[in-house]
Amino acid sequence: MGFVVAVVGATGAVGREMLKTLEERNFPIDRLVPMASPRSAGSKLPFRGQEVTVVATTPEAFKGVQVALFSAGAAAAREFGPIAAAAGAVVIDNSSAWRTDADCPLVVPEVNPEMIGMRPKGIIANPNCSTIQLLVALKPLHDAAKLRHIVVSTYQATSGKGHAAVEDLKQQTRAWAAGEAIKPTVFPGQMAFNLLSDWKAATTPEAEGYSEEELKMVFETKKIMGDQSIEVSPTCVRVPVVNGHSESVHAKFSRHLSVDEAKSLLRKAPGVLLDERPYAPGQHPQPIEASGRDEVFVGRIRRDFADPHALNLWVVGDNLRKGAALNAVQIAEHVIRTL
Ligand code: A2P
Repeated sequence: MGFVVAVVGATGAVGREMLKTLEERNFPIDRLVPMASPRSAGSKLPFRGQEVTVVATTPEAFKGVQVALFSAGAAAAREFGPIAAAAGAVVIDNSSAWRTDADCPLVVPEVNPEMIGMRPKGIIANPNCSTIQLLVALKPLHDAAKLRHIVVSTYQATSGKGHAAVEDLKQQTRAWAAGEAIKPTVFPGQMAFNLLSDWKAATTPEAEGYSEEELKMVFETKKIMGDQSIEVSPTCVRVPVVNGHSESVHAKFSRHLSVDEAKSLLRKAPGVLLDERPYAPGQHPQPIEASGRDEVFVGRIRRDFADPHALNLWVVGDNLRKGAALNAVQIAEHVIRTL
């Protein structure tokens, strides 16, 4: 038996990845309804060797839909999420619209699958890409030695900002190589051969100087882990990478956790690929390796010279897959078991 599944934002970077993931994982689908803005209505997308026709996102389009995967931005999620839920669909939304709502679970299936069934609004939120890969790597260590404080610096790929952002990076790179002036169209400055923090500023006075992206990592870590005592100190940076986020992580635990114990926990952790190569130049997880892969790559596990309760790690994941589309589809796989 299959289900009626909608993908809202199907023409976008994550939406396309959702279609690919549904296809690859052989998700039981009787009818697929790809939706986007009215601009894209009538356009075609490949799915299971055929072409499917995109429809405009309207209340009527959700009739009969049982599972609706959203990746169309927060405004569309706020408008159409409740409409889809009222029409009977379980909504899994990739935007930030519902993540802070106490009635919407925020789920990483490897970390808190038990929250999937607790959805009074019929809406489940998919976390931020950087938080997902961080917690897939840290949850097994937290279960063993209880996390106290995470210092994380991100190296985030341009695909996380959408399809148009990747095109901007490519165009800037071509202009740079040709010796022409760089004219950013999506980024707030030069992205090629440069680093940028390109997220909006946080607005709360106690978070002065932080970006919204950084605050998401703080809030979402506590909510997903179900532990308000875990402190997070993030710095988020965009790097001129097409796809695949990297993170430098300093994790402080409640007890001594040796490198060997951490490795043995991560070796059997769901969703983790432990990179055990001894460090050498170029021998470590890289975005070009993790891109296109489902696993979160964890490597360079090192003791901290100053603190026996802390470890340093390097964590790399495909932000469009595990950071977005795959995580949402995994949630949907749990959901359909109970429909
Ligand atoms: P469209 O392609 O018609 O603009 P990305 O994150 O790569 O920029 O993609 C965003 C996705 O969200 C696209 O599929 C886009 O459709 C869709 N989208 C944007 N705004 C809306 C809206 N108001 N209603 C439905 N879909 C939307």
